[in-house]
Amino acid sequence: MSQAGRGVFVTGTDTGVGKTQVTLGIMLCLQSHGLKVAGMKPIASGCWRTEDGLRNADALSIQQHCSISLPYGDINPFAFESPIAPHIAAEESGVAISMVAIAQAYQRMLRQVDWCMVEGVGGWLVPLSARHTVADLAQCLALPVVLVVGIRLGCLNHTLLSVESIQRGHLRLLGWVANQIDDDVARPERNIATLREWIDAPLMGIIPPQPVPSADAFAARLGTGVDALINKDSSTW
Ligand SMILES: Nc1ncnc2c1ncn2[C@@H]1O[C@H](COP(=O)(O)OP(=O)(O)O)[C@@H](O)[C@H]1O
Ligand SMILES: [Mg+2]
Repeated sequence: MSQAGRGVFVTGTDTGVGKTQVTLGIMLCLQSHGLKVAGMKPIASGCWRTEDGLRNADALSIQQHCSISLPYGDINPFAFESPIAPHIAAEESGVAISMVAIAQAYQRMLRQVDWCMVEGVGGWLVPLSARHTVADLAQCLALPVVLVVGIRLGCLNHTLLSVESIQRGHLRLLGWVANQIDDDVARPERNIATLREWIDAPLMGIIPPQPVPSADAFAARLGTGVDALINKDSSTW
């Protein structure tokens, strides 16, 4: 594909709603079209120590799914040991999360691939510092957004607030994914139908509850949505 690399920012209605699985699924779908793909988890709290430095499970999965070999430090420039809110983890570690450093790592990556997926941290308005949130990071990278909705009680409010905030920031909502993370939720299909009516962006796929979640299973449910992304006119990206 000759056009310049494209990036997508993956956010969610909350932490634990399936952002990583959707990120990996989209990466596999893009690769099945012969596209070269990279991914980032720029900020991760909840890491373990290794002799090479701190490592995070999401970032390692993303690294393993990249089409090319990329240094861990570019995939996850800000790694914090404690599984706590990122701005608190950063403050406790004496580190300032730098949007510029993330943007530089992102640009290095994008030069080498056709597509780069960037997984956010937590939800859309999670603070990264006293002044910046995840929304500012997506804005700084100038990325269109995919919103992962964890279908559970309360998700209608979380979703509509997230959509309103994404659109208020003048970022493009490329689509959303309905992820049935809770197999006990009542009326999942009615919730999804309601969201379809209220969200002015395409539903990229519905992921049923997975006995054993895997990137392959997610990719199988996201294929049509990703085809539509690939075919979008790059001038409207
Ligand atoms: N559709 C699903 N069915 C069952 N478990 C899921 C589903 N989607 C995600 N999970 C599980 O929920 C947890 C959170 O998913 P993850 O992708 O890590 O979320 P996030 O990146 O938003 O924190 C993981 O253990 C994942 O395997
Ligand atoms: Mg994740």
